[in-house]
Amino acid sequence: MLILAIETSCDETAAAVVEDTKVLSSIKWTQEIHSQWGGIVPSLAKRDHEARIESIINQALADAKSTKDNIGAVAVTVGPGLAIALEVGIKWAKKLAQEWHKPLIGINHIEGHILSSLTPEVRFPCMALVVSGGHTQIIRVDEIGKYKILAQSLDDDIGEALDKGARMLGLPYPGGPALEKLAAQGDPKKYKLPLPMAGREGRAFSYSGLKTAFYRLINQVGGPSASSGLSADQKADLASSYQAMVFKHLVRTLRLIINNSELAIRDLLAGGGVAANMKLREEIKKLSDEAGLNVHYPANLMLCTDNAVMVGIAAGFKAARGEFADPEKIDRLPRWRVDEK
Ligand code: KG4
Ligand code: ZN
Repeated sequence: MLILAIETSCDETAAAVVEDTKVLSSIKWTQEIHSQWGGIVPSLAKRDHEARIESIINQALADAKSTKDNIGAVAVTVGPGLAIALEVGIKWAKKLAQEWHKPLIGINHIEGHILSSLTPEVRFPCMALVVSGGHTQIIRVDEIGKYKILAQSLDDDIGEALDKGARMLGLPYPGGPALEKLAAQGDPKKYKLPLPMAGREGRAFSYSGLKTAFYRLINQVGGPSASSGLSADQKADLASSYQAMVFKHLVRTLRLIINNSELAIRDLLAGGGVAANMKLREEIKKLSDEAGLNVHYPANLMLCTDNAVMVGIAAGFKAARGEFADPEKIDRLPRWRVDEK
């Protein structure tokens, strides 16, 4: 069955047509208006989604050479995410499903990230790591559709920590990729930063203390003019030291959870924008070699960051289980946990 999938939970306006796990088309627009604010402004996100969604849906249908006649269902992200942004996608999905007389499927954005790296070789139970601007979660996957969050952030999420750290160094938004590039030129051991949750690791993440420590460090190294007083080498070393500690906290927590699990975990599904980072992948590789774990990433970097393909893939599994939404009742769920129905 062909599924038209729509995603507007944050700052990507996306639509895709998928048939099971086969991608027939994928269109996504990453909103640029937020870069000048250094973070996402919900009201601007909503307005931009509204301005573009219709043409993005039409483009996705055209690229897949599809029309309402061969689409079997319409799927949309209903949460978690920004309430007023989610509403835009839901409104359109509901409208199309009703006009076309097609079933409607409501998707959890995190389930989309989890399933976007799924391959037929994955054995359950497995673990999932979802690392993005709005999520830092380790999730036990008992089977498709059955999840348990084992750790999440108590404060800032990992992508947010990278974005804010990058901003302190004067890098453009989104900071994660810019910081990765700069960090590759620096020495990760040059500056000392505190390991988050030292002695209390293994159950949750916390990035706000590290972010504050980084701010202080920049001021120490750069003097009164902070980041503008830094040399190129100092900036690269700072970026490298900070990114290394952000990932150290993540991978140590992941290691503890996998080693302490009573279940024999053989596969790890990784997704979310931060999973596009090659340095993080190197660190995860060390853990996977040591723990005999197969790590799976989305087929390309575009599928790590938000997209509608992942929504369509998750929807295919829901459709197979007969889990459809009532168009009269479908509503945004901005705080929907992936382990809640
Ligand atoms: O999954 P995503 O597109 O949206 C959310 O659901 O949040 O993730 C966006 C986040 C941003 O924080 C961005 O800086 C980060 O993913 N990101 C990266 C990289 N590419 C994107 N972080 C580190 N390295 C990258 N290469
Ligand atoms: Zn996401």
